[in-house]
Amino acid sequence: MKSSYYCQECGYESAKWLGRCPGCGKWNTLVEEIRSSPGPLPSFAKTPSKYQPFPSIKASDKERLTTSFNEFDRVLGGGLVKGSLVLVGGDPGIGKSTLLLQIANSLASSSGPILYTSGEESCHQVKLRGDRLKVNSPALYILSEVNLENIFASIEKLSPKVLIVDSIQTIYRPDFGGSPGGVGQVRECTTALMYLAKSSDLSIFIVGHVTKEGAIAGPKVLEHIVDTVLYLEGEESHSYRILRAVKNRFGSTNEIGVFEMESDGLKEVPDPSAKFLAERVANIPGSVVVASIEGTRPILVEIQALVSSTNFSLAKREVLGVDSNRVALLIAVLEKKIGLHLGGCDIFVNVAGGVKILEPAADLGIALSIISNFKNVPLSPEIAVVGEIGLTGEVRTVSFIEKRIEEVRKLGFKRFIIPENNLINLKKKEMGIELTGVKTVKEALEKGYL
Ligand code: TYD
Ligand code: MG
Repeated sequence: MKSSYYCQECGYESAKWLGRCPGCGKWNTLVEEIRSSPGPLPSFAKTPSKYQPFPSIKASDKERLTTSFNEFDRVLGGGLVKGSLVLVGGDPGIGKSTLLLQIANSLASSSGPILYTSGEESCHQVKLRGDRLKVNSPALYILSEVNLENIFASIEKLSPKVLIVDSIQTIYRPDFGGSPGGVGQVRECTTALMYLAKSSDLSIFIVGHVTKEGAIAGPKVLEHIVDTVLYLEGEESHSYRILRAVKNRFGSTNEIGVFEMESDGLKEVPDPSAKFLAERVANIPGSVVVASIEGTRPILVEIQALVSSTNFSLAKREVLGVDSNRVALLIAVLEKKIGLHLGGCDIFVNVAGGVKILEPAADLGIALSIISNFKNVPLSPEIAVVGEIGLTGEVRTVSFIEKRIEEVRKLGFKRFIIPENNLINLKKKEMGIELTGVKTVKEALEKGYL
């Protein structure tokens, strides 16, 4: 039998062993695997499909299954599409199995038989966990199995509405070489599941563990095969868990759902802004509330900065929750355009609550929090801000301004500092809150809030 070397990180294939993968640049990731040609396709994949004229194809909203978890449905783009293959990734221990067992229970109660297969836990262990989560649907079936052929046999008998495979790294196809969890097996198993989903309208969730670097273990190709990729993320020290869609063929990406891990499982957090701001202490220099948008939903978070002088020649820049490159850029803008002497200062920036804010609309908030801590002057707790900052210090427009204003107003803020152009576009519409438009960072300071 022929063998090849496969990179376990990115799936790169090479005829001979290499110390460094040319595909992703990682060291020591190439592993020898037997290159048996993929086994025959499962029988259901052989029936030829018919072509149809476009207008005659029916697409109705009934093609989605909904759970009792609104947060989850929204991340999927309004429910689970029939026949879709969804990958749920995340660090070990973050709560993937917990979340999917709860989802499985909810779907079983509303839509009929659901099969949850675990290659990691015995039925007994799943039962113990389920009891704690108050899982009780008689239509939920648990199978502890690692052989994909046996899983397919159970599916044929039960014809479930949804299949959950926990996790893809533990199952294998006996007709294909390589060890379970290896690149080849993970790819072949996923492909077989994809054929199954497309040919039978069965929706499938697969759980995938994530490597330290943040990639789903096994080949990156996994992300190309599936329809939707969801990541469950969070800090171990915080109870919040954020479910983020990073790829979605049936909805928008960057949509997030917020959950909280409690002793009896994951609970939805329908009003995350209030939660994230709950521990805020008013009138502290360096604390600024930013109105950010995640997907389609506004979320208010507190950005904190600490600026302290250092005697070392190389000042520290430590950033958590926002992009460190943007913070470096903002520090440069503040030095050049406002004349702050930050060169001899250590600067720490953090988003409270362990949240990540990826959009540049947080720029103005980051800049003001650094200025506020540097000058030791607090920003009034009744003010929230938003705005992207350009290299010349200009404050640029942000999207979804009305949604942000609405959220800021709802949480009881009195004033909202926004980009001047956004204010002009609103055409003096009454929004129920004082709006201040600013063109540059400097102007934000001159208005006297700091
Ligand atoms: P788990 O779903 O097993 O994680 P994954 O499948 O992503 O590896 O989650 C395990 C963690 O969740 C564990 O540290 C304990 C915690 N947990 C709770 O806090 N409450 C609960 O009700 C359950 C079931 C788990
Ligand atoms: Mg698990």
